[in-house]
Amino acid sequence: MWAGRFKEIASDQTLAFSSSLLIDRRLAWYDIVGSIAHARMLAKQRILPKSDVQSMVTGLHDLMEELETGDFRFSEKLEDVHTNVEFRLTERIGEAGARLHTARSRNDQVATDFRMFLRDYTLETCSLIANLQKVLMAKAEEHIDTIMPGFTHMQHAQPVTLAHHLLSHVARLQRDLERCLDSYQRLNVCPLGSAALAGTTFPIDRAYVSRSLGFKAPCENSMDGVSDRDFAAEYGFVSTLCMMHLSSICEEIVLWSSPEFGFVEVSDAFATGSSIMPQKKNPDVAELVRGRSSVALGELTALLTMLKALPLTYNRDLQEDKARVFAIADTLTSCLTITASMISTSKYDKERMLAACQKGYLNATELADYLVVKGVPFRHAHEITGKAVRYAIEKNVSLQDLTLKEMRSFSSIIKKDVFKVLSVQSCVERRTSYGGTASSAVKEQLRRARSISLSGEKKAEAEGKRLKAAYSKLLAPA
Ligand code: ARG
Repeated sequence: MWAGRFKEIASDQTLAFSSSLLIDRRLAWYDIVGSIAHARMLAKQRILPKSDVQSMVTGLHDLMEELETGDFRFSEKLEDVHTNVEFRLTERIGEAGARLHTARSRNDQVATDFRMFLRDYTLETCSLIANLQKVLMAKAEEHIDTIMPGFTHMQHAQPVTLAHHLLSHVARLQRDLERCLDSYQRLNVCPLGSAALAGTTFPIDRAYVSRSLGFKAPCENSMDGVSDRDFAAEYGFVSTLCMMHLSSICEEIVLWSSPEFGFVEVSDAFATGSSIMPQKKNPDVAELVRGRSSVALGELTALLTMLKALPLTYNRDLQEDKARVFAIADTLTSCLTITASMISTSKYDKERMLAACQKGYLNATELADYLVVKGVPFRHAHEITGKAVRYAIEKNVSLQDLTLKEMRSFSSIIKKDVFKVLSVQSCVERRTSYGGTASSAVKEQLRRARSISLSGEKKAEAEGKRLKAAYSKLLAPA
């Protein structure tokens, strides 16, 4: 490609070392689409003769077909996907193909292809997140009245409902979905036409290319256009945070399916046995999702480390970005998909959850609040209740098992009505505050969660349709 400048060709060692083809061949479709937009613009601006561009576009369509049928032969010797597409085109159409690279560079090409790829993945991620939310919300609906211990510090804290608990995961995922949609805005700008870094002397129309490829606008600064990888880092972070959430959901499934908890059982389809212990049923899928979050975290760290001290503008280090991001993308999409399937087929054990509420003095705050209602300052109420709890622990009984006389030995304000507020059902049902655990509050949360998740999903869907329409217009025969 650059033989003119060199006396010798690069060694096989250098070629093998610097090739990115194994990774970036995944961008081939986007490279062809970008090339078609670029070629059409060159004709429109009379930079190249119509006849040349006509044969380029036809040739590029043929390459697309080769790609679909698996007939596209990539050459390892040609360093990357961009060179492969250009050379294959020239092989098919001759001289005209050699004109395609007018007013562009691989630097703006790779940035454009990568952004187009990530647009699709970001929208796909939105739909996968919305799907997982649906699964969690369906389970929540089934378990509005299922009472379980709520934990802080992994210690019994206050009773909550399973629905309330599951909807807290939905809320995290909702932020992931919104982060996807938000980062999409910065992703969706078009670097093509930045050329190597400084723009070009040819009278190109960047707005036309940007529009044809469904981008919001051309990027403002050509030097930034070829060097910016914020979009990759942002995609990496948004995805990694989502992986952290999946890891936390799965950690809970692992813990909850232990005999000590026994709160949930994943279906056999999402578990494996042991080669030696016949009784075993292991929640491997959940463990693997938890384990694979390390891939995202590691790759994001590698990406940021690679970027942190690069001088402007394009540096070859940037070639390393795609392997990092593809690994994150594949991890996230597969984990979102399987987590949804696993949870939708899992069974929660209401009795075990309720039984667990009998231990751990989950209703102690209730007793303190009861005293507060009767006029005792909260700090004193806290102390009185603490003493009652210590007494009950020593007697090895629950608070509600103490007699009225025993209760009154801690505070004479306590009356018979105390026993009503001490039941777990009452603990839950009286927490009607906004976002609280009472069934009325949880039903309201579920209603709102459904509507905001749906609106995010719809935005992503509409954007997907818009992109599809832009591509079909661009790819329509001229
Ligand atoms: N394979 C390169 C990458 O992934 C494409 C751009 C190459 N540009 C260059 N000047 N070597 O970043």
